[in-house]
Order: sequence, then C-alpha cells, then structure tokens
Amino acid sequence: MKGIVLAGGLGKRLGPLTKITNKHLLPIFHQPMVYYPIQTLVEAGIRDILVVTGGNHAGEFLRLLGNGEQFGLKHINYTYQEGEGGIAAALGLAEHFAEGQKIAVILGDNIIEKSIKSHVDKFKNQKEGARIIIKEVKDPHRFGVVELEDDKILSIEEKPKKPKTNYIVTGIYMYDAQVFDIIKTLEPSARNELEITDVNNAYLGRNQLHYDILDGWWTDAGAHESLLRANNLVAEKLRREKK
Ligand code: DAU
Repeated sequence: MKGIVLAGGLGKRLGPLTKITNKHLLPIFHQPMVYYPIQTLVEAGIRDILVVTGGNHAGEFLRLLGNGEQFGLKHINYTYQEGEGGIAAALGLAEHFAEGQKIAVILGDNIIEKSIKSHVDKFKNQKEGARIIIKEVKDPHRFGVVELEDDKILSIEEKPKKPKTNYIVTGIYMYDAQVFDIIKTLEPSARNELEITDVNNAYLGRNQLHYDILDGWWTDAGAHESLLRANNLVAEKLRREKK
C-alpha cells in the first residue's frame, strides 16, 4: 500500500507562527511536526510515501526530509498544492502517484500515541471501499463528527454546531482507487474547500465505508491550544518511555 501525507494549506489558525514558516515544520517537542505522520506510516509498514505540501516555504521540506534516510526510507516523493483548496483537493494531486493502488492517507498535523498497523492490515484485506479511524474526544464540534447506531455509521457532519456524538473522524483515512473519481465530483463547501468529509460520505452512500476505533491518544496540532497539547503529549510519552 502507498502512503500520502497531506501537508498543504496555509496554517492560518496558527498565525503568526506560520507567517514565516510552514505549519508542518513547527516543532512538536523534539521533532518537526511532519516527522510524526511520516513515522506513523513507516511504522505501519508503508515505504512508498508522497508528501503533498504547499504555500510558502515548501522548499524547506526537501531540505528537512531529503530522501527520507532518517525514517529508513530510500526515497520520498513530493508534490505541491497551489492555494488552500481543501484536504480532498490536496489528495486529488496524488492520483498519478497512487497508480490505482490502495492508499493510506494521513494529515500532516495529526499526532498519535500508538500504531495504526493493525488498521492498515485490515484494509489490505478489505475487498473495496474506504476505512476511517475514529476517536472519542471532548471537543467534537472542531472535527468531522460520526453518528453511530448499532456499530454502523449513519452520517458524518463536518464541524457541526450540535455534534450528535463525541466520536470524530481522525485525519487517518484509507481508500481504494474510487477516491479520485469521487474527488472529481465534489463541490466546494461553505469554507470554499473540497472536504474530505464529503469523500467519506460518498463512500458511506455506496455502503463501502468501514471504521476502526483508534487506541491510545490522538491529537491534531493545527491551533495554538492543540499545538501545545501535542507537545505535552509527546513529551509525556517520551518521559514514560525513558523510565
Ligand atoms: O484532524 C482531523 C480533522 O481534519 C477531521 O476531523 C476533519 O473532518 C477534517 O476536515 C480536518 O479538519 P481541519 O479543519 O482541522 O483541517 P485543516 O484545515 O486544519 O487541515 C488539516 C491538514 O490537512 C493540514 O495540516 C494539512 C492538510 N491540508 C489542509 C488543507 C485545507 C492540505 O494538505 N491542504 C489543504 O488545502
């Protein structure tokens, strides 16, 4: 399976930190943010990785990541997203790279405690469709919220004012090749982006959306509070591992 790290967008929610650098190059404790999603994919056994970046300072990714030796890789692929057209628009740029294979996608600001290997392995054996990883959180209104009934997903709503549950879609998604045809049918949302939630709802409409619940902590790092939280969680994890 191929892996894609989405590290485009302008990171405006983190201003002024993102005025002179890219959000995904900011530190999370001892490493730049983008290291974490790459490590998550590599740890799950994925070796063929594309980093989609964008905005200003995109060239710095090359200097930082090079060919990926620090992750045990021989090569990293890069592509560039113009503007901030949304997560699904950034993913659309990976069609050529995917070559019709199944893909595992992770957002460049998603930091997790544990492994996703078991979920990736399940998706390898899944005949078709998509697989998302969900998590129970205290602030669901900030995310894509999953409505569940009898262990089945009924709907996903992007940042609802009144979330129906506390379960949210993390930024870890697995798709078959249909994803690129779905992306081509999307219309921009109210925030003028192509939404990944619309992609997931399209799979849901085809009865092809499966999910797993993530074990261990999960956080994004796209706002000041969550950036601090990510730093603290990683620091705490390292402290525990040293003991
Ligand atoms: O973190 C999980 C959440 O991520 C999901 O629960 C939501 O359903 C999903 O829409 C997304 O929400 P955010 O509003 O937090 O996404 P954000 O705009 O902060 O973008 C997250 C990452 O996606 C960002 O670090 C890089 C990538 N991205 C984003 C945009 C808008 C791109 O590569 N290109 C883009 O144009």
